[in-house]
Amino acid sequence: MIELRDITFYIQTFGCQMNENDSERIAGLLTSAGAQKIERPEDSRVVIVNTCAVRGKSEEKLFSYLGRLGALKKKHGLVIGLAGCVGQLYREKILHKNSSVDFILGPDNYHRLPEILSRTIRDKPILTSWSRDWNEDERRLFLRESSVSAYVTIMEGCDNFCAYCIVPFTRGREKCRPLRAILQEIQDVARQNYKEIQFLGQNVNSYKDPETGAPFEELLKSADKVEGIEWIRFLTSHPKDFLPGIAEAMAGSRHVCRQLHLPLQSGSTAVLERMKRGYTRDDYLETILLLRSLMPEISLSTDIIVGFPGETEQEFEETLSALEMIGFANIFSFRYSPRPRTAAANFKDDVPFEAKRRRLLEVQNRQKAIQTKIHEGFVGRTIKVLCLGKSKKDERIFSGRSEGHQVVNFTSAKDVIGRFVDVLITACGPYSLRGQGLSPT
Ligand code: 5AD
Ligand code: SF4
Repeated sequence: MIELRDITFYIQTFGCQMNENDSERIAGLLTSAGAQKIERPEDSRVVIVNTCAVRGKSEEKLFSYLGRLGALKKKHGLVIGLAGCVGQLYREKILHKNSSVDFILGPDNYHRLPEILSRTIRDKPILTSWSRDWNEDERRLFLRESSVSAYVTIMEGCDNFCAYCIVPFTRGREKCRPLRAILQEIQDVARQNYKEIQFLGQNVNSYKDPETGAPFEELLKSADKVEGIEWIRFLTSHPKDFLPGIAEAMAGSRHVCRQLHLPLQSGSTAVLERMKRGYTRDDYLETILLLRSLMPEISLSTDIIVGFPGETEQEFEETLSALEMIGFANIFSFRYSPRPRTAAANFKDDVPFEAKRRRLLEVQNRQKAIQTKIHEGFVGRTIKVLCLGKSKKDERIFSGRSEGHQVVNFTSAKDVIGRFVDVLITACGPYSLRGQGLSPT
């Protein structure tokens, strides 16, 4: 039997912002039950590994990490729990293969963590059930990593079943959070002096208030009115659900950032069709045109997959040409890896590994040049930056984000963490801007 009041815990997170936010929730649940969060696994009684399963690589990372934890367990007698998508997916296999794992909690079962820990754990519980409805209980007990920018989850799960994607199988079907609960959370974080919120969901554009049916743009409009929140961002959007009303709501708002992450995945209509994405290259380009006509300064980012089954050189070239045409401020690019239970797992994974590797490199090099050019355009300009903390590399340098979500490292005579600062951009690289803080705004 573990007494929660006495335990110390450590959380290791692998994965996306959704996973980071889940870890904040787990930490909140445990600390409010009396447990204490610790910075090193070797000093803690319980280690929770929260892992995403979207790509094969995160899985590899998990297994090597569990190996290291197994050694720690022998020495210090840790309790090891697995949270997140991977546990949801592999359940028995993981318990079977990794005798060091004591319990598994799927993404819909985090609220039961205190109960699991306080009862005997010798029976190795697996809790990976799904509930169809949103469960608002204990949602407010977050222990957030940042005191400046807060994640606010608005929906969970996904109904899209893109051919390559495991998410509908790990996070289940779409469930939307009531608008009034979301607004309550925004007001809470505004009172705690947060300056920015980032709405999270697998497909935020299909958000619908379960109580009133209000769509995503209504949520944006309501959030825009909350006093104290200066910047509002959201991810992830889906091009097929990004309707003109959302672009109009962004353009008409005071606080929604002129920034959008809109995953393209491929520049080829034929590949998009095989991926079951529900839009064509031209549909996507049209959305970009609309966004830029309403907000000429908007900063765009995207996700790209190379080497999807059957991707020809010519189809791949269409992705490169889309990058050139659109000029994204940032991209996240991946080599396709087959995921269990997905439709594409039944396709022949026929693009040789070497070709995938080369295409990924080509995408990244092309993007590096595009980004460098965009960044050069900022040199000599003064831009507004939200300071999020100190630079990881140099304690004397502050670090923040521009409205376009660019990383900006800058000097400042005063401590400006949590404040908006005018920064004169003096230099840049492909992945960040550098400058001099002039004054907090
Ligand atoms: N292989 C490669 N990349 C993938 N992604 C999702 N599933 C896969 C997969 N099987 C990428 C997509 C998605 C991002 C979160 O991860 O680009 O937008
Ligand atoms: Fe996965 Fe597609 Fe859903 Fe995004 S929209 S989470 S890629 S199934």
